[in-house]
Amino acid sequence: MGAGRSHDPHAGLVFVRGCGDTLWDTNGKAYLDFICGYSAVNLGHAHPRLLAAAQTQLAQLAFCTGATHPWRSELEKKVAELVDGPSLESNETKSKVWLSSTGARAVEIAWKIAFANRPGKMMRFHLSYHGRSLATAHISDTGSSDALRYDVGVNASMEDQELHCVIPFPMCGSQCGSQCDGKCEDCDASIDVARHWLDCHSEDTSAMILEPAIGARGYYFASGAYFRRLVKLLRSYGVQVISDEIQMGLGRLGSMIASIGDGWKPDFVVLGKSLGGGITPISAVIGDRDRMDKLPQGFESETFAANPLACRVALEAISVLNDENLMASVSRRGNLFRETLRESISAGCRVDGRGFATVIDLSGLSNQGVRSDDASRIAWDWVCHAQGHGLLVHLTGVGRNRIAIIPPLNVGDAALQQAIEILSSFWKVK
Ligand SMILES: Cc1ncc(COP(=O)(O)O)c(C=O)c1O
Repeated sequence: MGAGRSHDPHAGLVFVRGCGDTLWDTNGKAYLDFICGYSAVNLGHAHPRLLAAAQTQLAQLAFCTGATHPWRSELEKKVAELVDGPSLESNETKSKVWLSSTGARAVEIAWKIAFANRPGKMMRFHLSYHGRSLATAHISDTGSSDALRYDVGVNASMEDQELHCVIPFPMCGSQCGSQCDGKCEDCDASIDVARHWLDCHSEDTSAMILEPAIGARGYYFASGAYFRRLVKLLRSYGVQVISDEIQMGLGRLGSMIASIGDGWKPDFVVLGKSLGGGITPISAVIGDRDRMDKLPQGFESETFAANPLACRVALEAISVLNDENLMASVSRRGNLFRETLRESISAGCRVDGRGFATVIDLSGLSNQGVRSDDASRIAWDWVCHAQGHGLLVHLTGVGRNRIAIIPPLNVGDAALQQAIEILSSFWKVK
């Protein structure tokens, strides 16, 4: 395991069991899983209600080709309601849902539907990540320079046509935090690039795809005020908005739909990862019925999309997220976690985040005379120290000098405290 993942401090670990917030390796060693499949396991491993739903459905009907089944229509309604609010039993939901299997496929489908409504180029954020399929790699920062060369090489024909425009993501998060009014220097610079592009290309731009916070490429956060300003600008040019909430939706930032929780409404929302409860791959595109219906009939199909097993597990996952009233607690407990963490670690390390998405940024260590490659080395050592003490956290960021902490949303207080003790003990041994 871990072949080809030399950039990952956890390469080589082999896990054989998971329960709640804990994973066990082949030697029986336990680890707090504060990576959670980058939000795929938001409800922890082997959640009893998800297991029961999966087992029941496996025995009843796991798969049927093409045909519809009751769990599919029920799930479409429940997912639409995440955006629309509860609908009356008899009423058709305002939004329509297209179910798919992986995140990348759902992004492609959203892209196709956006294109069917308004043909043209795509805008995206610098540092955005939307998947590794040939199409989504083209609108993603694919990480290492080798991967970039490969993807750009494969996509050379697309690149030639300048299919998309890249907007800088404001890096003000760690300075302004959630207080940012969306008008600081960084936000202004980002908005200016978008406005400049739109002034020249509004007629041939289809949509902008956004992540409500940058996930895979470093856990960077911008305020709701910035997003509202950007979305208003895009709308004024008639450009559609796709919110890729595959990693940050379904509670990671403290709301079921992150964009709506932040006060802006995209034309399309894309969900994935934890929709399948960490058990089955399933993803969804949600948009207004009129827009969704523009995708020509027969233009999309996938063998495994929306199979009964995946739908049944997704229904239960949504129900658990709602039932356990997690959303209300995620922001409060996430903030408390960050406050305690901040007090426990070296002052040169900045702690930023929202909901249960937290990052430690080591770039500030340079103000204390640490060279930037040394900050990356310290970040690597810190992640390895945590692993040695039974805590899995994720090394990330442009300079590999950030540590993302992604616990399950239903994590217990004792596990959070244990994680803080392990992380702070790194500085005591140094
Ligand atoms: C924001 C975002 N979009 C898309 C994807 C791709 O999802 P998948 O790996 O299921 O194709 C990911 C995966 O990490 C993601 O974080």
